[in-house]
Amino acid sequence: MSTDKTNQSWGGRFSEPVDAFVARFTASVEFDKRLYRHDIMGSIAHATMLEKAGVLTDKERDSIIANLNDIQAEIEAGTFDWRVDLEDVHMNIEARLTDRIGVTGKKLHTGRSRNDQVATDIRLWLRDEIDTILAEITRLQQGLLGLAEAEADTIMPGFTHLQTAQPVTFGHHLLAWFEMLSRDHERLLDCRKRTNRMPLGSAALAGTTYPIQREITCELLGFEAISGNSLDGVSDRDFAIEFCAAASVAMMHLSRFSEELVLWTSAQFQFIDLPDRFCTGSSIMPQKKNPDVPELVRGKTGRVFGALAGLLVLMKGQPLAYNKDNQEDKEPLFDAADTLRDSLRAFADMVPAIKPKREIMREAALRGFSTATDLADYLVRRGLPFRDCHEIVGHAVKYGVDTSKDLAEMSLDELRRFSDQIDDDVFAVLTLEGSVNARDHIGGTAPNQVRAAVQRGRDLLASR
Ligand code: ARG
Repeated sequence: MSTDKTNQSWGGRFSEPVDAFVARFTASVEFDKRLYRHDIMGSIAHATMLEKAGVLTDKERDSIIANLNDIQAEIEAGTFDWRVDLEDVHMNIEARLTDRIGVTGKKLHTGRSRNDQVATDIRLWLRDEIDTILAEITRLQQGLLGLAEAEADTIMPGFTHLQTAQPVTFGHHLLAWFEMLSRDHERLLDCRKRTNRMPLGSAALAGTTYPIQREITCELLGFEAISGNSLDGVSDRDFAIEFCAAASVAMMHLSRFSEELVLWTSAQFQFIDLPDRFCTGSSIMPQKKNPDVPELVRGKTGRVFGALAGLLVLMKGQPLAYNKDNQEDKEPLFDAADTLRDSLRAFADMVPAIKPKREIMREAALRGFSTATDLADYLVRRGLPFRDCHEIVGHAVKYGVDTSKDLAEMSLDELRRFSDQIDDDVFAVLTLEGSVNARDHIGGTAPNQVRAAVQRGRDLLASR
């Protein structure tokens, strides 16, 4: 990256070169060069439109387009000389175009400003990122459906307050994550609509005096609509904030999921095994196999929340229209998108490889009186009011704690000490299978409901 020349793009009204440190301080090329593909895409659309508007000749347009494509090839080949003195990706590419084709290159910026250019680039870039992220969400959801189907009959304890609550099927538990991801997908798709509006043509802030035809660039760039106000078009970054908000919620979900995986792989739970390729060891403790992927995803969640907070604060004090502050939108936005995409990718790779330890899950569900509610429901079916049943079962559980016996391990005589309404058939409801099978309604944990939910999930993914 070189810094030798003064800035030719706006040097006209300046009588001395920009201070070398200030040039570096105000430059964004180090991070915004990743927008090069979208910047060139926008410029090609702009040049195409300028020809139709009679601003460029067809020869000029063709030369601009061919050379922009060559410049893209130079960038991708790593031979492009990015210059900090040229500030940003936009001026680097334009300067190179002018190097190559002289005065015609200087015509590209007619009727355009870097303000609407950058606002356009960042929307084009984010639109692509959202599409990649949506595909990763779908891939992770597919993995969850496969595992849920295979584990529709596997029983584990369900928790509230991280205390054993009621038995659930592992498939049902996994599908809770599927639901959260479905909403994340909806949120990002919704955010995509507002990202996909075109500010190009807003120029610096007020529009332009050239006879531009924004419908043409809109169509060429695949935007859904043209921004309706030039001041708003160049300045607001609400779509980026919305993206970070949706990304934060998605990361919050992945972080909770991570926390469960960390717990479940611990020696205390041992509910699942993660394949070695998703774990690392310890340099000092030979026995260790650490669930690094979920831990890191849980840890990375903070940076995405930080990006959201950073962008909200970045925006809140800005008067209309564009301010240089907005150059600071990129790093947090890039980081949030990278973090979410990579976290989803790691999870989509890892989830289908989760190995449940069914016997251990089952034993854990047998401990902790997980069928106590089932006993209360049994007594309700015998005609007792629920509150009384709750108390009766409470006494039975206390007895179980004192004698180290689960409800299903007590004899009929023992159980009848708490209510004479209890008969032989009680043992069917005290089993884990009886408990989960009884919750047989949409959204319930019964294995056949899990299979029905997997089918609904497959239909949803097929409709995307
Ligand atoms: N690098 C700037 C940004 O990222 C581009 C727009 C600068 N416009 C200006 N007039 N200084 O926002």
